[in-house]
Amino acid sequence: MTRDALVEIRSLSIDFATGRGAVHALRDVNLSVGRRRIVGLVGESGSGKSTLALALLGLLPENTSKVTGNIELEGKNLLALKPEQLEHLRGRRIAMIFQDPMTALNPVFTIGTQLVDAQRNRHPDLGRKELLSRAAAMLIRVGISDPETRLAAYPHQLSGGMRQRVMIAMALLCEPDVLIADEPTTALDVTIEAQIVDLIKDIQAEFSGSIIFVSHSLGLISELCDEVAVMYAGKVVESGPTRGLFAHPSHPYTQALLACEIDPDTEPGERLVTIKGGLPDLVDVPSGCIFADRCPARFEKCSQEPALREVAPGHDAACWLV
Ligand SMILES: Nc1ncnc2c1ncn2[C@@H]1O[C@H](COP(=O)(O)OP(=O)(O)O)[C@@H](O)[C@H]1O
Ligand SMILES: [Mg+2]
Repeated sequence: MTRDALVEIRSLSIDFATGRGAVHALRDVNLSVGRRRIVGLVGESGSGKSTLALALLGLLPENTSKVTGNIELEGKNLLALKPEQLEHLRGRRIAMIFQDPMTALNPVFTIGTQLVDAQRNRHPDLGRKELLSRAAAMLIRVGISDPETRLAAYPHQLSGGMRQRVMIAMALLCEPDVLIADEPTTALDVTIEAQIVDLIKDIQAEFSGSIIFVSHSLGLISELCDEVAVMYAGKVVESGPTRGLFAHPSHPYTQALLACEIDPDTEPGERLVTIKGGLPDLVDVPSGCIFADRCPARFEKCSQEPALREVAPGHDAACWLV
């Protein structure tokens, strides 16, 4: 773990109540995010990435039935805060770029009004005019020309790529310490995706905060992130510096993800289809290694759960073969 981590998640477990019983969405997750670092979270759909992001924001769904562990921001446990204290942190210290900007942007307000409101928490002393001019400058910063026209526009009048740039501008205007991007390019085509990834890279150079970048694509993660945590069925199964992890993927799940990614015949949307089988039932979580069912390297020992063990300095994997 990083000594002066900005965010430190320890033994985080989260359940959701459902008609079938408790869904154990996260189990004993540890993650540390250093200052000015970009940390990638990768894993198939359903592995718990968004649950982790929402927990950080204090926006877990209403049917959340259990939260144990710690989420510390500069040593302060966010899970112990009252709702209004969390509300105060959101949009000031922690901001999120959602996968689908249409769900996060309000269709009945102009972009200008929404960018002004987004800054109120951070700059309560500034008036609307000043906030609007900050918004215009930020739109230019994220590659939107003619900001005056865009500020007067409604979300549906912009293209998908432009809406995502607006979301990024909105998050940056809050000057957060932690920016969470939850699959921010999934709804976009590959050309626009590449542009948005370049934009995030540019921003990182002058942004003083940390970024948690969630993606199901290892390719994107390798381009952007300093460190990676690979999640599977609610657990971190491998984590470490991006370069070391890509050079020596040590968990069979990471290896399988990489193999899918490299195959040039798979389209982005179906990259993961080639790992046989599906995620285990998170209501009735099987004992032993969580990936055993689908693992080509499985052997007797896998009926017991492997702990994360060090492969190289800072690089851990939860597999008996390590
Ligand atoms: N509100 C909820 N109620 C019940 N189950 C949920 C809820 N939200 C998420 N889940 C389940 O929790 C698991 C993790 O989901 P999620 O964090 O969205 O994964 P990811 O973002 O990696 O796709 C999945 O099995 C999902 O179906
Ligand atoms: Mg998700």
